[in-house]
Amino acid sequence: MTATVTPLAETDLPEATRIFRVAFGTFLGAPDPETFWADRDYMRGRWQAPHVAALGVHRDGQFVGSNFATRWGSVGFFGPITVRPDLQEGGIAQALLSRTMEQFEAWGTTHTGLFTFAQSAKHIGLYRKFGFYPRFLTAIMTRAAVDHAPNGWSRFSLLSDADQAAALAGCREVADSIYPGLDLTEEIRSAHAQDLGDTMLVEGPKGIAAFAVCHYGPKSEAGADTCFIKFGAVRDTATAGADYQRLLDACESLSVAVGMPTVLAGTNLARQEAYEALAARGYRTAIQGVNMHRNNEPGYCRPGVYAIDDWR
Ligand SMILES: CC(C)(COP(=O)(O)OP(=O)(O)OC[C@H]1O[C@@H](n2cnc3c(N)ncnc32)[C@H](O)[C@@H]1OP(=O)(O)O)[C@@H](O)C(=O)NCCC(=O)NCCS
Repeated sequence: MTATVTPLAETDLPEATRIFRVAFGTFLGAPDPETFWADRDYMRGRWQAPHVAALGVHRDGQFVGSNFATRWGSVGFFGPITVRPDLQEGGIAQALLSRTMEQFEAWGTTHTGLFTFAQSAKHIGLYRKFGFYPRFLTAIMTRAAVDHAPNGWSRFSLLSDADQAAALAGCREVADSIYPGLDLTEEIRSAHAQDLGDTMLVEGPKGIAAFAVCHYGPKSEAGADTCFIKFGAVRDTATAGADYQRLLDACESLSVAVGMPTVLAGTNLARQEAYEALAARGYRTAIQGVNMHRNNEPGYCRPGVYAIDDWR
């Protein structure tokens, strides 16, 4: 009856995906859990990414759940974690989480967290056992995409190899300016290599002023008609507020260019200016949850930080 956690095998991906749909669909009360979020894929892209540890769990010879730990340099987060609904409340998630914590230890991440359902005593209680503490809400917001006049931005996928290498170094500097060691270069590379989306680069006097890794379409985490800003950050300078607006212009224009009518962007409400700027642009909350951080540390969820991510 012991749950055994191992790296997630490719052969288990279809069942992991089925359990993911049924687990979330059941929890959220979807009429047909088997087809919940069928227009998007949270599993394969992460499974193939070198900066993600994909974990599977077996019990009595059956595959029963999975979890994904993502490393963004010094920052780590996990999810989606899912357990087959008929086997929940039996300690299987805790087996997955013990192994996930070992992964963060091995990576040496200095800031670790997750996004979860704020209203669920079970979720908050489960993650608190592993040292995570609930902090600010995260709002995952949408608005209709609109095109904007070009204003010093470019698409990573259209650059030469040499310019891509320089852009990756610039993005590393931008991320590091909001949290030491935060590094999205593998996320940028993975989105490009797997054709999940593109990264928008906004120019400034010091090189890249802001960037955003965007997913779009059914193969990605975004969904069939959506451009999802998986991660966006603005270099910490005096012009950060204006650069953030240009970054959002760039992402909305990308959305139009690739035929996605909706833009999806989430941010933690501790980043007050970043959240309020989204609301002022007409973004409305579609999903709301809470961030839990290990040791109750703020990380880069603090006023003055212009960043977009939701750690799903
Ligand atoms: C969330 C999920 C992964 C948990 O899996 P699970 O295997 O049922 O979890 P476990 O049995 O290992 O742990 C449950 C723990 O929750 C905690 N818990 C449950 N109810 C609680 C409550 N009312 N108050 C406080 N803590 C509570 C307890 O610590 C409990 O473990 P314990 O009784 O041994 O102390 C599973 O329910 C799931 O797949 N849900 C749907 C998808 C989802 O919500 N994923 C997570 C999104 S962040």
